[in-house]
Amino acid sequence: MGALLPHGVPKEEVLKVMAGFTDKDVDWRTGKVMTGLYDPGEDAHSLAVEAYIRFLPHNALYVNMYPSIGKMEKEVVSSVAELLRADDEVVGNITSGGTESILMAVKTARDWARVNRPEIETPEMVLPVTAHPAFLKAAHYFGLQAVQTAVDLHDYRADLTAFAEALGPNTILAVGSAPNFSHGAIDPVAEMAALASEKGILFHVDGCVGGIYLSIMRRMGENIPDFDFSVPGVTSISADLHKYGYTPKNASVILYHNRDLRKYAWFVCTATTEYVVVNSTAQSSRTGGPIAAAWAMFRYLGEEGFCDIVRRSQEATRSILQGITEIEGIEVLGKPDMCMFTIVSEKINVFEIDDEMRLLGWQMIPQFAYGGSPPNLHVSVTQANVPHIDKFLADLRTVVENLLRHGSKVNKEELSCIAIEVAGKPVEEVFMAIIPAVGLTGLDLPEQMAALNTVLDMLPAKLRDELLTEFFNLTS
Ligand SMILES: Cc1ncc(COP(=O)(O)O)c(C=O)c1O
Repeated sequence: MGALLPHGVPKEEVLKVMAGFTDKDVDWRTGKVMTGLYDPGEDAHSLAVEAYIRFLPHNALYVNMYPSIGKMEKEVVSSVAELLRADDEVVGNITSGGTESILMAVKTARDWARVNRPEIETPEMVLPVTAHPAFLKAAHYFGLQAVQTAVDLHDYRADLTAFAEALGPNTILAVGSAPNFSHGAIDPVAEMAALASEKGILFHVDGCVGGIYLSIMRRMGENIPDFDFSVPGVTSISADLHKYGYTPKNASVILYHNRDLRKYAWFVCTATTEYVVVNSTAQSSRTGGPIAAAWAMFRYLGEEGFCDIVRRSQEATRSILQGITEIEGIEVLGKPDMCMFTIVSEKINVFEIDDEMRLLGWQMIPQFAYGGSPPNLHVSVTQANVPHIDKFLADLRTVVENLLRHGSKVNKEELSCIAIEVAGKPVEEVFMAIIPAVGLTGLDLPEQMAALNTVLDMLPAKLRDELLTEFFNLTS
């Protein structure tokens, strides 16, 4: 946009110009987006939008000015707490998303430990390699050491022996996922929480993606292992509203097992010339829109609505999982516990499957090899995908058969030589070495991502992180 226009332009013109910006955006209404989008359907969506816009101008920081927001926040938090079998002691707040809920859990644990375990100078957090990157971000922001532990490579749940061994004198917080995003597998939360609690360590359950969904599955009679506040030793849980709560972004819930722990979440400040700041979350000023939309969505769907969504999504997931077993050359990793899973292949480069499926309109998400997990494509099934699963399977079959028949277009040997050659070199040199080999011509990512993903997959994670930092810092 550059400099401000000297004069404003009429509303219609502004909207017309903006409409043109979306040409290259993924169309979220096709039912073909299988990651990061939770479309509740037209009627529910329009209600959420209306509720959101009505409360958009309300600043949730000023609870005294807008008691409506405080009331809706309390009611949504208590609905989520009830799903997670909390007792009356459990308290919580709405944050902007899974990452903020996790940041709050880690910051709260750190500040709790400063008071309750003052002998610890370098606090540690123990977490399986499948725990979400938000925990590593929190460790980075709040000065904790993150100790990653192995998972069982058959089912991608935390390896209890490795987990137990990692809990040391400096551990203040341990983490389990229900489920992890990457493989859709629930960690053995009961055993992990018991091990942590024996040593006086706080235990957080990341239910960002599964907290609501798995609770509904349990209510429908499915056999879900205990992962919530019914488990002794669980001290906090994050559960996102803007994922399988089907509410618009940005909304998540962070719950603490009692007020004594939540005490360490607050930031209160009167020591400036400014107004009084009282924050239970990282954000201060924030719109009431997502809170209102979440409240409206919970009211609209009720238990029956959620059960209907979960039933349809589970049926669709079972059909896809069965369908994949009938496609030669690909398989699903581990034993997913809900509607999320990953596709792997020993015969084909999965990043090429991703490119070909994207050409047909399907959006999945590539994940790199790490901690013994091979490179894979992640799929999250939502209710919006349900009518399209036969087409998904048919397209997947065609893509896989074509790749098997025609062979790979990505030269893995060449990329592997580059990956070996650049190891240990400064990031700028690595960047220049891989550009010509992966189809990067300008500042945009290439349409075909397979070569780039393949070489990134071959690099050590630390170098990969530096390279991506360099790229996005240059291009954004
Ligand atoms: C298990 C899990 N935890 C945390 C997060 C982070 O959530 P957000 O993207 O809302 O910050 C995600 C996101 O997918 C997730 O799946």
